[in-house]
Parts: sequence; structure tokens; C-alpha cells
Amino acid sequence: MKFFLDTAVVDEIREWNATGLLDGVTTNPSLILKSGRDVKEVLAEICDIVEGPVSGEVVATDYDTMLKEGRELAKIAKNICIKLPITMDGVRACKTLVDEGFKTNMTLCFSANQALLVAKAGATYVSPFIGRLDDMAIDGMELIEEIRAIYDNYMFETEILAASIRTVNHVKDCAIAGADVATLPPSTIEKLVKHPLTDKGLEDFLADWAKTGQSI
Ligand code: G3P
Repeated sequence: MKFFLDTAVVDEIREWNATGLLDGVTTNPSLILKSGRDVKEVLAEICDIVEGPVSGEVVATDYDTMLKEGRELAKIAKNICIKLPITMDGVRACKTLVDEGFKTNMTLCFSANQALLVAKAGATYVSPFIGRLDDMAIDGMELIEEIRAIYDNYMFETEILAASIRTVNHVKDCAIAGADVATLPPSTIEKLVKHPLTDKGLEDFLADWAKTGQSI
């Protein structure tokens, strides 16, 4: 499973990119606001740091302007992935942009039918929002499972990019359900490595090692 970082904060991206574990980055208008940066400037900087796809989102809601914004974002760097909302105009714009050779990430996916539609439009990624479904007492993971089954039935190449991930269990369950990518906030990715028994075990090993008086 690929890991993308869900942030527009350049320092966080630099830090996680240095681990060699980062396969891409996703941003959205809220994350751009949070970063306090100019959208084109920050996307260019992120694309310089990360080799993999970097999602930048259009903010227009009509087909023509979505295309214009998408092409404009794609000029920033070769690894820009154009993020579009799943509306009729968004799906149509996705098809056109894919036909022009651009990568697309179809966002705000909350149903399997939406995912089916964007796969037919040739989207590179579909982004089901797990946490926001869980917030409404609807099982977000069930959506990942449904999309996986549909995409496998028809051998769609669109990748399932699980988004709105809030917990480490979301990450594990996405991996079990066969999501291709999980986009994680830095706080969640950090928690994946943590286990109290690892810390305790290491502490004990190091204490015993000190008693041997040896060095490597
Ligand atoms: O990638 C989408 C993600 O940023 C949304 O997360 O926590 O705002 O639902 P959240």
C-alpha cells in the first residue's frame, strides 16, 4: 500500500520524505488555507521535494473553468495530479483531462456508485472519505470494500486512495480491504510506529547491553 501525506506544510513533507516511505502528497483547499501559503507557490515547492504525485485541487464548479484550472495547476510540475470533486461537471472534466494525458484524483467520494462513475471516466485515483462517513455513523470501511470489489470485478485501473483517515486502525483496515493508497495526516503516520511494548523491550535490551560492557 502506498502512503501519501495529507498536508500542505512543507516542513512536514520534507521530514517524511526523508524516511523514504512517502509515495505522494494530497492537498485540498482547507489544507492550503491551513498552510497559509500561496497555492501555486506551495504546490511547486512540494513537487520539488516529492517524486510521486502531488494532488492540487480545482475550486471551480463548472466544466470549462475546471478544465482551465486543472490545466493551469498541471503547468506547475510534471507530478501534479489534478484533484476534482465528484460532480457531473467534475466527472466530465476528469474524462477530458485524462484524455489529454493528465493524472486525476476524484475527491469527496461517499458512495460506490460515485467510484464506479469516476473509474469509467478513467480517473487515476478515487478518494473515498472514510472518517467523514464514520462521523455520520456510516461504516467508511464498508465503502472501501465495496469499491475494491467493483474495481476487481471489471479490472478498473483507478486506484483507491483512502482519505479522511483519522486513526491507526483506519490504516490497518484499509490495508486489509485492499486500498491502493492511504493519505495520512502526519499525526497518524507518526502513530503507526508506536507500541509501548517496543519501547519497553528496547529499554530492557539497552539496560542489559550496558551491563555486558561491550560495544559494537
Ligand atoms: O484528503 C481528505 C482529507 O484531508 C479530509 O480529511 O479529516 O478533513 O475529513 P478530514
